[in-house]
Amino acid sequence: MADHAYEGRGTGGPPLILVHGFPLDRRMWRHQLAGLGELARVVAVDLPGFGGSPPPTATVFAVDILADALIDVADGLGFDRFALAGLSMGGYVALSVARRYPDRISRLALLDTRAEGDAPEAARGRLADAERIDAEGTGFFIERMREKWLSPRSLTGRPELVREVEEMARSVAAKSFAATLRGLAARRDERGMLSDIDVPTLVLCGADDQITPPGMMHGLAASIPGARFAKVPGGHFCPLESPDEVNAELAAFLTRP
Ligand code: MLT
Repeated sequence: MADHAYEGRGTGGPPLILVHGFPLDRRMWRHQLAGLGELARVVAVDLPGFGGSPPPTATVFAVDILADALIDVADGLGFDRFALAGLSMGGYVALSVARRYPDRISRLALLDTRAEGDAPEAARGRLADAERIDAEGTGFFIERMREKWLSPRSLTGRPELVREVEEMARSVAAKSFAATLRGLAARRDERGMLSDIDVPTLVLCGADDQITPPGMMHGLAASIPGARFAKVPGGHFCPLESPDEVNAELAAFLTRP
């Protein structure tokens, strides 16, 4: 296995791989690592360029490259089939895995994410952000996004959580940050494959998510045969904000026939 970083809990039970959002890392799943180990062999990965994983050599981190890194981790751990949960960018990665390696996944959880690619204007905005990050670093981006990552309630009432999220974002090297934005701007529209997903699927959303709001996620669930849609309190990074509710949904997802 290449030197991808990951963290695991639980020795018995079926494997569950957790994939973080942008620009966080595996630490965003700390409550799920702590809470789901009894039910599953839980592994939270750091995608290339995040947390403890070195960046790939490419200057554009395409979503499919990130998905291949995840498969690499699964291969190294001997996971032939595994439940896969991805949040936002992690959801884009999970959909790439579902399209390209459908036989590897036994269950799919899509949290605070979307299947469509960037509209041309959004892609242009991302590329402009990447250029600016190359020139001046990531500070302006984090400043702009911080209000959108967590619910208004957490923003005012949980300064330690706001700090934790910001610190994770600041720990990403500017080069990786920009290369990932370029990859996200170029990602494909996965809507065409949603009706082919034939594993139990959970679509989960923070009720106050401003980036991928509940209405959008409800539409995503409606496009996947038999998918369950659920809302939990919190914003875009709801696994950090509402660990009990997210863990309860993931526990039910892991055990549902
Ligand atoms: C994320 O949380 O991963 C981002 O919101 C994804 C994106 O920028 O599209």
